[in-house]
Amino acid sequence: MLKIILSGLFLLVCAINPTLSIYCFWNTGCPYKFLSTETSYDSVRGDMRDSAVNLKGCEPISMWGIYRHGKRKPSIATSTQMKDALQIQNLISESYKKHHSSICAQDVENLLNWNMDNKFLDGKQDLTEEGMREMVGLGNRLKEAFPLLSDVRDGDYTFRPAKGPWIEESIKYFVKGLGKNIKIDGARHDSDVMAPNCEKRNEKYDDSEVNKFMGSSDYLKVKDRIQRRTGLEFNLSDANVSALYDLCRYTWTNKASPWCALFTTEDLQVLEYIEDLKLYYTNGYGLKSNEKVGRIPLADLYNAFMQAKEGKDVTNDATIDQIFTALGLFKDASPLTAAARSRDRKWRTSYISVFSANLVAVLNRCNKGPKEEYNVVFYFNEEPIATICEEGVCSWQEFENKLGSFTTNLTEACAV
Ligand SMILES: *[C@@H]1O[C@H](CO)[C@@H](O)[C@H](O)[C@H]1NC(C)=O
Ligand SMILES: *[C@@H]1O[C@H](CO)[C@@H](O)[C@H](O)[C@H]1NC(C)=O
Ligand SMILES: *[C@@H]1O[C@H](CO)[C@@H](O)[C@H](O)[C@H]1NC(C)=O
Repeated sequence: MLKIILSGLFLLVCAINPTLSIYCFWNTGCPYKFLSTETSYDSVRGDMRDSAVNLKGCEPISMWGIYRHGKRKPSIATSTQMKDALQIQNLISESYKKHHSSICAQDVENLLNWNMDNKFLDGKQDLTEEGMREMVGLGNRLKEAFPLLSDVRDGDYTFRPAKGPWIEESIKYFVKGLGKNIKIDGARHDSDVMAPNCEKRNEKYDDSEVNKFMGSSDYLKVKDRIQRRTGLEFNLSDANVSALYDLCRYTWTNKASPWCALFTTEDLQVLEYIEDLKLYYTNGYGLKSNEKVGRIPLADLYNAFMQAKEGKDVTNDATIDQIFTALGLFKDASPLTAAARSRDRKWRTSYISVFSANLVAVLNRCNKGPKEEYNVVFYFNEEPIATICEEGVCSWQEFENKLGSFTTNLTEACAV
């Protein structure tokens, strides 16, 4: 009886206090953190110290890893659009004063108090401070999880970045996290097995699904909601929506960015899907050659483990996505299309292509009776990949069956 009265009272309070039902960004307990490639690594990572698989009678003897660089500043093209969109900060405040905006007072205040660090939009794609911290953290946790990394000496390991200053910086911070004075190789000037580049591929990027989705009611409703919520007097273009989305996700550091208050969770999910579609058709299953290109670094992994020699490399996102394609990971039963935005799809760039995304393979030597056996455990973003082999541990035979036939011939891979 008492229970019923209380719940009745509670409902009454909600009904007579309409402010309780208004959606405000600043006090939403759980803001939507999945911002495609600009997702914070911390939002999706595991922790190697907790997840490292310890197998009885086995010890890790070799490791191989490929890492996406840490969080970096936006490119010149993106920065220019974001700079133009900055004036919307004041326009929203004016619109709010005229009662044309339905954004919450506190969200408008937070947006007005927000200041852009000018250096952030100078178009130089340096690592951000958060990116540096991510990289140090990765090195740190890896060293704690795998004591074999404590005795590394020059010559035992290869650490090599792909081309790009933000990539070269990333590896420096990663090695700093390992707490060792380790020699880092220079980036290769020709094509690197870690960052194979199919400049001359025959296949063309197919943007038809992305374009179709941009005309879908899902997307048009997002635009309309932002238009109404902000009360802006000019009609928002697709470029404006994209610039605002970039402001939300690039300025999201440890704390949610006040720019994200312009979007509902549903808006962010729709915008995320656009990015998923784009990457599916550039780096993912949407191009057949990706599967072949992704085999190139995996052939290097296979060779490295064959020689039981350790290697570590930092790379860019195209390669990581292509490796997943080559391994058949995050593959949906049917291709991603504009018509079907499945909420439980496997292909999610917010997980797959985040800054600092990483794939690590550990070679274990096990003493089973008189015989020595080897197995390989794969980790993605510091969690074992359970789907790759049974319970995440590949026997040497399974490993060989999967990777043994891969070659490093780029011409052949791009010829699809
Ligand atoms: C909105 O987008 C148009 C092009 O689509 C651009 O010319 C304009 O500068 C943008 N406005 C803002 C405030 O970013
Ligand atoms: C915005 O778009 C609507 C409908 O498409 C149109 O009627 C209106 O004139 C446009 N407003 C401006 C300021 O361009
Ligand atoms: C790579 O493949 C192409 C085409 O099959 C072939 O012509 C070339 O000799 C191969 N290169 C190497 C280094 O094996």
